[in-house]
Amino acid sequence: MIQAASSKELRELFNRHLEQTKDHATRVEMILQALGEGAEGEKCTGMASLISDLEQLSQGLSHDVLDSALVSYAQRIEHFEIATYGSLRDCAAALADSDTAMHLQNTLEEEQDADRQLTNIGRTINTELAKQEGSGAKTEIPATFVEPATRIKPAA
Ligand SMILES: [Fe+2]
Repeated sequence: MIQAASSKELRELFNRHLEQTKDHATRVEMILQALGEGAEGEKCTGMASLISDLEQLSQGLSHDVLDSALVSYAQRIEHFEIATYGSLRDCAAALADSDTAMHLQNTLEEEQDADRQLTNIGRTINTELAKQEGSGAKTEIPATFVEPATRIKPAA
C-alpha cells in the first residue's frame, strides 16, 4: 500500500503506521508469552479478503482515485483492528488483567489515531477528486469502494 500511494501525506502516514504496527505485534507477542501461549496463529481471512479486494480494485485506476481507494481500504483495516483490540481489551479488563488491558488500550488508541489521520487525508484527496469532477475531468470512482452511507442520495 505504501508503494501504491501517490499522496506524500498518505505514504508518510502508511510508513509511520507500519512502524507502529511492528510495535503492536511485539505487544501481542509479549501478551501471549505472559499467558504461556505461542504467537503462531491462523491467517485472518477477513483481513486477507480486504487486501485481495483492494488489489483487484486498484487495477487501472488513476493515481488520485487509487489514493482514495487506499484510504478507504486502510480505514476498513483500521476499523477491523479497532474492533479486535477493543474487544480484547474488554476481555482482559473483565478478567482483571490490568497489564494486558493497558497494552491493548495503548494499541487501540494508536489504531484510532491512524484512523483519524486517514479520515483527514481522505477528505483532502476526495475534495480534490470532486473538484476534478466539477471541472469535467474524468475520475470514475468505482462504487465498490464507496461506503454505503455515501451512496444515499439526499432528499430533493
Ligand atoms: Fe492499524
